[in-house]
Amino acid sequence: MVDLAMNIPPQPANRALAEHIKAGISEVLTRHDAESVSCYHHPVLESAALQAARTWLGPMLDAMGQSQVLMCAGTQGAIFNLLQAHTRRGDAVLCDPLTYPGFMRAARALGLKIIGVPADASGMLPDALERSCRDTGARLLYLNPTIQNPTALTMPAARRQDIAAVLRQLDVTLVEDDPYRHLLNDAPPPISTYTSGERSYYLASLSKCLLPSLRAAYVVAPSGQATATLLESFAATSMGCSALLAALVQTWIVNGTAKSLLGEVQLEARSRQALTRSFLPDSIQAHPSGIHLWLPLPPQWRPAAFSHALEDVGVRIAATHAFGVENELPSGVRISVGGARSHAELSAALQKIQTLLGKNQIASSSMVV
Ligand SMILES: Cc1ncc(COP(=O)(O)O)c(C=O)c1O
Repeated sequence: MVDLAMNIPPQPANRALAEHIKAGISEVLTRHDAESVSCYHHPVLESAALQAARTWLGPMLDAMGQSQVLMCAGTQGAIFNLLQAHTRRGDAVLCDPLTYPGFMRAARALGLKIIGVPADASGMLPDALERSCRDTGARLLYLNPTIQNPTALTMPAARRQDIAAVLRQLDVTLVEDDPYRHLLNDAPPPISTYTSGERSYYLASLSKCLLPSLRAAYVVAPSGQATATLLESFAATSMGCSALLAALVQTWIVNGTAKSLLGEVQLEARSRQALTRSFLPDSIQAHPSGIHLWLPLPPQWRPAAFSHALEDVGVRIAATHAFGVENELPSGVRISVGGARSHAELSAALQKIQTLLGKNQIASSSMVV
């Protein structure tokens, strides 16, 4: 089975990852004694890791205004904690019509109503957002505006400004989840820079540009009581992030490894995206250095049938229904290019996708049982 369903960064082609990890851990243990990195909390390590956020996030941090930076064990948990801190069971929360499944999982676990707001090729429509806020009483919007999961679209700066204007006008909280930003060299400013941080939480995961197993993300949060509540919620669910991994993140950012590893991931993502374009139709939506793409399906295929038929020939992908919050959803599948172990494996899987696209829908065995 080739897994093109998990959105993970590809291993750098130069196979340097093991060396980076070995050298990073060794540097951590040279600078800090084993006791410091093996405890639950270490104030000095924590503040060094937070200091490194200035280097990683750069000038956009200042542009977010009255904010403070926190660190947590990945954005998935932070999304859950934020929803818990800002909503009550039965509340409506807004998002794109196709959205990150982990957001839906967290919202469902908390008994929230998930409402998809209409979007076009530039992302969520500001008028529709305003209408949805008024109609549903929703006070929280979740967006992933850069190389969106799953559509791979990036919201342009002008639309970001218009969305921020609606949020400011209606005093709605934004959870801006931006894990793919660093894969682009020219991403538009975060929406949170236009809201000046007052009602925005900006989530910067390191999973998609470095390693998912770092379980580390920065959260840029408004100062004040809301953030104190969030910190309590982090403590209640995960006790914060691992001191050892936080020290590794800080070391990598400060000594430049994070930047070079990111460059290697981008390079490999670029060459895999080029490979996909040689197999798949022009209708795919993708960023040249993204780690996933969206493939709209031809009319003869329903997404579930397509993914089942593909699984029967050994390729796993993710279909519309994993991302959808409405009944009438665009028909498509998300293909993640990072999971294949080599270009040869990716090519073989893409060949199977290409072949299936040319066929008519068949009832696969997994659909019949
Ligand atoms: C949009 C989005 N947010 C968050 C995550 C999970 O991030 P983390 O590994 O930091 O929990 C993913 C993983 O696929 C994602 O696509």
